[in-house]
Amino acid sequence: MIELSAIHKHYRMGEQEVRALDGVDLVIGRNEYVALVGPSGSGKSTLMNLLGCLDTPTSGRYLLNGRDTAQLTEDELARVRNREVGFVFQSFHLLPRMSVLDNVMQPLVYRGLPRAERRRRAIEALERVGLGNRLDHRPNQLSGGQRQRVAVARALVGEPSLLLADEPTGNLDSRTSAEIMALFDALHAQGQTLVVVTHEPDIAAHCRRTVRVMDGRIVGDHPNPPRAAAGAA
Ligand SMILES: Nc1ncnc2c1ncn2[C@@H]1O[C@H](COP(=O)(O)OP(=O)(O)O)[C@@H](O)[C@H]1O
Ligand SMILES: [Mg+2]
Repeated sequence: MIELSAIHKHYRMGEQEVRALDGVDLVIGRNEYVALVGPSGSGKSTLMNLLGCLDTPTSGRYLLNGRDTAQLTEDELARVRNREVGFVFQSFHLLPRMSVLDNVMQPLVYRGLPRAERRRRAIEALERVGLGNRLDHRPNQLSGGQRQRVAVARALVGEPSLLLADEPTGNLDSRTSAEIMALFDALHAQGQTLVVVTHEPDIAAHCRRTVRVMDGRIVGDHPNPPRAAAGAA
């Protein structure tokens, strides 16, 4: 479903050229559960932003669900971002003045669905993340873990083929992080394709495959050993 070939992303910083990505080849299939790891500054977020069509490469080819993303117009890219990709960020990115329900309904506004249908789907997504009883709360009335679950519901509400999470547990304590990862594990078991950026080995261990990035290149790519059944979850 994802096929990157010879992807480069260069930034010009005055005289200097920063090679954020420097020749990346990567194939990710449907229902894979991939950890993207590597030190700070190695290019992980740049790669995620390209996968999510939030950004375009300097050169190389990116096929998403069989379509060459370079051939898409701005409108088509916006549509892909809205329909095919769900994004979860470290700092949640919820709208503070809106209720939980309105935050989750937001991505569906662009779909031309009647309000009742948007509401129904948003409630369903919130139930999937265990927050069906928090619809009218504001984000600041929730814990960090609950906020991140709202963000996951918002990412899922449009039924994207790909869920991307960039350091989703970076602002959470270890117990709450484990809850978010248990949620991702469940989504994976239900057929979701996930790519999770992290620099924490405990988080990466939830995934089935680890791709290691260093200096804008992929320097490792291996299946993860099977996890022991999580007793304390
Ligand atoms: N918009 C930008 N302009 C200039 N340099 C950038 C930009 N975005 C990222 N970089 C540089 O690209 C490299 C990779 O960054 P990033 O993808 O954010 O790494 P990571 O997420 O692994 O920490 C870093 O050297 C960073 O400074
Ligand atoms: Mg980053």
